[in-house]
Amino acid sequence: MSNTENTSIHEFDFSLICEYFSSTERQGPGSPEATIKALSFIDHLTDESRIADLGCGTGGQTMVLGQHAPGQITGIDVFPDFIRLFNQNAAKLNLQDRVKGIVGSMDNLSFQEEGLDLIWSEGAIYNIGFVRGLTEWRKFLKTGGFVAVTEASWFTDERPEEIEKFWMDAYPEIDTIPNKVAQMQKAGYIPVATFILPEYCWTENYHVPQVAVQDHFLKKYAGNKMAEEFIGFQRYEAELYTKYKAYYGYVFYIGKKI
Ligand SMILES: C[S@@+](CC[C@H](N)C(=O)[O-])C[C@H]1O[C@@H](n2cnc3c(N)ncnc32)[C@H](O)[C@@H]1O
Repeated sequence: MSNTENTSIHEFDFSLICEYFSSTERQGPGSPEATIKALSFIDHLTDESRIADLGCGTGGQTMVLGQHAPGQITGIDVFPDFIRLFNQNAAKLNLQDRVKGIVGSMDNLSFQEEGLDLIWSEGAIYNIGFVRGLTEWRKFLKTGGFVAVTEASWFTDERPEEIEKFWMDAYPEIDTIPNKVAQMQKAGYIPVATFILPEYCWTENYHVPQVAVQDHFLKKYAGNKMAEEFIGFQRYEAELYTKYKAYYGYVFYIGKKI
């Protein structure tokens, strides 16, 4: 696809992006194993616990949480179609009494202050930024409550220009793991654990399932320049990962409110 190197994801129509990602189980890199591993650092959850999953998408990770953690889980996403699919998924797994999706925005949450035991967010805090999200969400957590988020991070201090440029456009707040940990501490949390998502969270779980959707999209939207460029962008993003995966990835950051 021509010119994709110069096109930013911010320029694509939101509904097109949502239609595309409604067709895949996950809307970002991740895995059930990574969700369960992150959960293993979090203690004191009970049937009375209140958990929020912000930017939950169709609930890939939320359903895993629902199956492995006690308490009530509220998924929040800005896109109604994702929430509709989320609630269908919860019902299919018979989790609907404990796992509920609600349309809302992570920058305008209506949870009670100090009402949550755990805030989860996989591949979504970037929508308002890591520092802003951690800072603003903190008031909704009880003291001793946990936050667990995944965030794009650099693995090295220096990297090739092509990948540096891509991320500076996509998400300039990307930073190294020690810098992210320091930001978490500064935002009022004890950094409890960090770990890098394994490669298959990107490839098998995120990029591979998109291939069939891309072929379908290109047929459905033949001649639609924006759709074609969007698919080109997704393919370019996957190519960049293959080429530069030694330099960046998603990292789980788990912190405890003090
Ligand atoms: C990369 S997807 C990750 C979805 C899911 N957590 C996963 O890992 O599969 C980012 C999600 O954030 C949602 N989102 C974007 N802006 C948001 C906002 N302001 N409030 C809540 N959700 C938002 C998108 O609709 C999308 O579902």
